[in-house]
Amino acid sequence: MMRFKAFTQKVGVLFLIGIFFAITPLIGAGANQWGTKVQEALDALKIDGDPIDGEDLYDICAACHLPTAWGDPAGTFPQLAGQHATVLIKQIADIRAGNRDNPTMFPFAIQIEGAQDLADVSAYIQTLEMNPNPITGPGGPSFILSNLRKDVSPYSLDTVEKKVGKEVFKKLKTLEEQEFKTKADFMVKLKSLLTPAELEKNRADILTHADWTTDLNLGKKLYEKNCVECHGDHGQGSYKDYYPVIAGQTYLYLVRQFNWIKIGKRRNANPDMVKQINGFSQLDMRSVVDYAGRFKMQEGDWKKIKVDDDDDF
Ligand code: HEC
Ligand code: HEC
Repeated sequence: MMRFKAFTQKVGVLFLIGIFFAITPLIGAGANQWGTKVQEALDALKIDGDPIDGEDLYDICAACHLPTAWGDPAGTFPQLAGQHATVLIKQIADIRAGNRDNPTMFPFAIQIEGAQDLADVSAYIQTLEMNPNPITGPGGPSFILSNLRKDVSPYSLDTVEKKVGKEVFKKLKTLEEQEFKTKADFMVKLKSLLTPAELEKNRADILTHADWTTDLNLGKKLYEKNCVECHGDHGQGSYKDYYPVIAGQTYLYLVRQFNWIKIGKRRNANPDMVKQINGFSQLDMRSVVDYAGRFKMQEGDWKKIKVDDDDDF
């Protein structure tokens, strides 16, 4: 209640801050903010978090990340359960400081009142178990025209509509969300909907968007060559170095973040990772995160941050 009141009093200020961030998105864009330069994060890491206070704070987070902290299956909201506390603290602090764009969460992230709150909410999240049945990728051929995925690929349905024109798009829309496990089945369906001329003209654009195939063997190869060094041999990340756990994270969230890191939209990304994945194709990207998301965390992967009152837990 207290916090809520404090929040409503701050709304005016928040609004101005919101405008500031809305109109000055380029200020921080040049400077790469990787590393934990945000003082608040450094302070929070020194504090023993209190999961009881953290649980109260988590109420506002649960609206999006869910009470389980498993996020949503479409990957709009990431799973937070199982993430290293250092990563949680760094990411929340980066979001608060405007180093990582998250307009959806920003107004809520700034309700956190400082280092102690940051430590508390992260301590609470650490008490939550990961989703035992995480949402993985297709693990093979997959052809689907999906609007849910417009965020995660440069080839959104809106782009398809512009490319193929209204008439053809209207026919294609009847396929929305239907998944085909082979390209042949997908083509049969397309042939039944479009005239031969329409198909011929738009085939490449449609396939570019609809092809969500992943190749787990390719993913394994790419992972071992390019990711182990930082994210660990089974996606466990690193508490010490702020490398996120990617094992068990929702597939579509991973795809989106990976795309954003590659194109520089996630500004707080590690520059070495950006270099590492520079030559990746869309198939490479989907395959490597489909592979990585299937890893399971193991005993000893976590270093639990010390909490004030673990006796109460
Ligand atoms: C209005 C919805 C919303 C609320 C409320 C919200 N978040 Fe988020 N959060 C998001 C979205 C959306 C993302 C992913 C943004 C992206 O794709 O980059 C996110 C990302 C995160 C991340 C980064 C995860 C990662 O793997 O990098 C953390 C940590 C996080 N949220 C913690 C919190 C905490 C703690 C709270 C409560 C104080 C909270 N969020 C409240 C929407 C929300
Ligand atoms: C040089 C170390 C490094 C390498 C190599 C690297 N990463 Fe990362 N990765 C990071 C760091 C650090 C972050 C978090 C960046 C930040 O602070 O926002 C990250 C973030 C991510 C995220 C977003 C996670 C989240 O919760 O939001 C994904 C997905 C990811 N990496 C996948 C990969 C994959 C797959 C590879 C191999 C192809 C890879 N990374 C290679 C260091 C690395």
